[in-house]
Amino acid sequence: MKRVLTIVFFLMSLAACQASPDTADQNRDGRYGLNTYNTPEVVEELRYIEKNTKPVSPTPVKRVLITGSTAGIGQLTAKTLIKKGYKVVVHARNEKRAKDAGQDLPGAEAVVIGDLSAMDEVKRLAHQINALGNFDVIIHNAGVYHTTTDVIYQVNSLAPYVLTALVHKPKQLIYVSSNLHRGGRLKLESMKETTTDIDYNDSKLHILTLAKAVARKWPDVRSNGVRPGWVATRMGGSGAPDNLRSGYETLVWLVEGKDEATQTTGEFFFQKHVESDYNRIVDDVAAQDALLDAYFRATGVPFPKNQHVKGAYE
Ligand SMILES: NC(=O)c1ccc[n+]([C@@H]2O[C@H](COP(=O)([O-])OP(=O)(O)OC[C@H]3O[C@@H](n4cnc5c(N)ncnc54)[C@H](OP(=O)(O)O)[C@@H]3O)[C@@H](O)[C@H]2O)c1
Repeated sequence: MKRVLTIVFFLMSLAACQASPDTADQNRDGRYGLNTYNTPEVVEELRYIEKNTKPVSPTPVKRVLITGSTAGIGQLTAKTLIKKGYKVVVHARNEKRAKDAGQDLPGAEAVVIGDLSAMDEVKRLAHQINALGNFDVIIHNAGVYHTTTDVIYQVNSLAPYVLTALVHKPKQLIYVSSNLHRGGRLKLESMKETTTDIDYNDSKLHILTLAKAVARKWPDVRSNGVRPGWVATRMGGSGAPDNLRSGYETLVWLVEGKDEATQTTGEFFFQKHVESDYNRIVDDVAAQDALLDAYFRATGVPFPKNQHVKGAYE
């Protein structure tokens, strides 16, 4: 069944960027990458946010960094938070995509650049981020699906680990996983500097296990996993069945942290609710520690010992 779902997910995604005549007018100012880096649904949603999201009062003081904020869920989250008045640093893979992000997300505080599939760039990205000072919230959102397993491993698994370990600890961390993590395995023995053995499902099991490990190791940081649902981004494909707005609004809701339900750590969320249907291996303390050890062996970057975060949530 999971295999069938995965294949359907893949086929729908291939159709994602097909131009459609009734969406042609959405491309009127050339922004948002209609049918290139965003589906019509994402473009429509970006325009919806632009029109309807108002600054909140008092002006929010939180500073937020979102990886993979040049498209899809990351971009929708960034757009909403910027419109609400948050200080948002966006992340792009290269200069060209940084330029697109500058156009699509006016009001962003800064753009940091780094290709997450290249470890030296991930390390340089961590230094760029640290040079900008401390963050309240970091969202590890960037992800890939339609590519080779070695790139999936680098982008979805190793990069969020290395950034977590090298970037100054924020007060809150959010890791974007997927329902497909349930079909994954940790495959710790395969975790080398590079491997072709770790697929998308495995990578999403890694990132959720990482979220839980961080919650346990750093009790003064709120660390949670989120699954956005199968939504109509370039990855999910036009026509994907779950509600796109609920997907990114869950990230916004966690960042805002106004609801009692958000004042938690070590949870996995779906549509603003704690998700109870997940692979229990992620709660296994020995498995969490073994994953952190495997990350150290694969990257040479140790998981830092806990140091108290200044102004952390107590
Ligand atoms: N869409 C779904 O149905 C779904 C379901 C479950 C989980 N998710 C998860 O949700 C997250 C966001 O996905 P999405 O649906 O918004 O996908 P998306 O529209 O394809 O956006 C992915 C983002 O990640 C960035 N990215 C990819 N590879 C990168 C690299 N090597 N270096 C730097 N940035 C890179 C992309 O940059 P470019 O624009 O330059 O490529 C883009 O900003 C992912 O972690 C994904 O696994 C999505």
